[in-house]
Amino acid sequence: MAKEPVRVLVTGAAGQIGYALVPMIARGIMLGADQPVILHMLDIPPAAEALNGVRMELVDAAFPLLKGVVATTDVVEACTGVNVAVMVGGFPRKEGMERKDVMSKNVSIYKSQASALEQHAAPNCKVLVVANPANTNALILKEFAPSIPAKNITCLTRLDHNRALGQISERLNVQVSDVKNVIIWGNHSSTQYPDVNHATVRDKPVRELVKDDEWLNGEFITTVQQRGAAIIKARKLSSALSAASAACDHIRDWVLGTPEGTWVSMGVYSDGSYNAPAGVIYSFPVTCKNGEWTIVQGLAIDEFSRKKLELTGAELTEEKELAYSCLS
Ligand code: NAD
Ligand code: LMR
Repeated sequence: MAKEPVRVLVTGAAGQIGYALVPMIARGIMLGADQPVILHMLDIPPAAEALNGVRMELVDAAFPLLKGVVATTDVVEACTGVNVAVMVGGFPRKEGMERKDVMSKNVSIYKSQASALEQHAAPNCKVLVVANPANTNALILKEFAPSIPAKNITCLTRLDHNRALGQISERLNVQVSDVKNVIIWGNHSSTQYPDVNHATVRDKPVRELVKDDEWLNGEFITTVQQRGAAIIKARKLSSALSAASAACDHIRDWVLGTPEGTWVSMGVYSDGSYNAPAGVIYSFPVTCKNGEWTIVQGLAIDEFSRKKLELTGAELTEEKELAYSCLS
């Protein structure tokens, strides 16, 4: 029997990530090749005409899984009945801007959209925040939507995770699908810590295969940390196709589960695991089963890593304070 359609909200759908993301969702890349979807697309009034253009292209693409499209500038209409919400709407960082510069513009959007989601989304709606500062926007959304369970609100660090896989695969000249269990700890920012201490390629430790700790502890980390800025410098626009693809990976693994023996990185509400600050959205290694994520516990953390985990945690605590000061 055909499955019931799942309603997926994409905010900022007329923007560049939205343009890459909605066809992926309509093709079944996010929720599976047998899962019909109804797309809800939200943008702001100045982008209404462009949003309608995206709607027309979705009709023209004749996607078999796409059972309906709601294209609107009304946040209540957009949020009504959605099972998955991918929050991309906001202002992107431009060349020369630090992520903190986009903070005041974006956190207030997340405060107001929190109530719309809380009141109108389907029960148990899964929320993924992509717009920057992603961790702190997700935290604000959580704090201003107290009836949505904290475990349902996450942010995207899968792009950083995938970037780390890509760097290791290029360095070792191996298939990216053979690289497993890298970790992104902390903030989706230049303080994030891409950690390969538990990563493997076909069950062999990455450190043993790379045989160059100086590269792994130096250039590898900074390349992943700075990749967003490098893309902005090259494209004069921030990453879009890789961000859209990572958003699909994040939701797919959350809903359908991670493969046995494999974890992924997700920004989730911190319970203080690994001495991360509790009460911020922090990226951890997680496994997913039956639509629930669980932080991987018991991984050994060396002194070098401990300092990096602390640094990115401290930045998140500081961002939380800054976000509240922007809202007051
Ligand atoms: P964009 O400017 O092309 O698109 C953003 C869209 O959001 C625009 O169409 C804009 O009109 C819309 N928008 C603005 N305010 C809105 C509101 N209140 N409600 C609904 N829509 C609204 O930007 P983009 O390149 O698509 O990037 C979107 C966001 O994603 C940015 O904040 C960017 O920094 C972030 N990003 C995050 C990651 C990640 O890995 N977490 C990666 C890439 C980009
Ligand atoms: C990215 O990682 O590509 C985005 O978050 C864009 C940015 O501002 O770094």
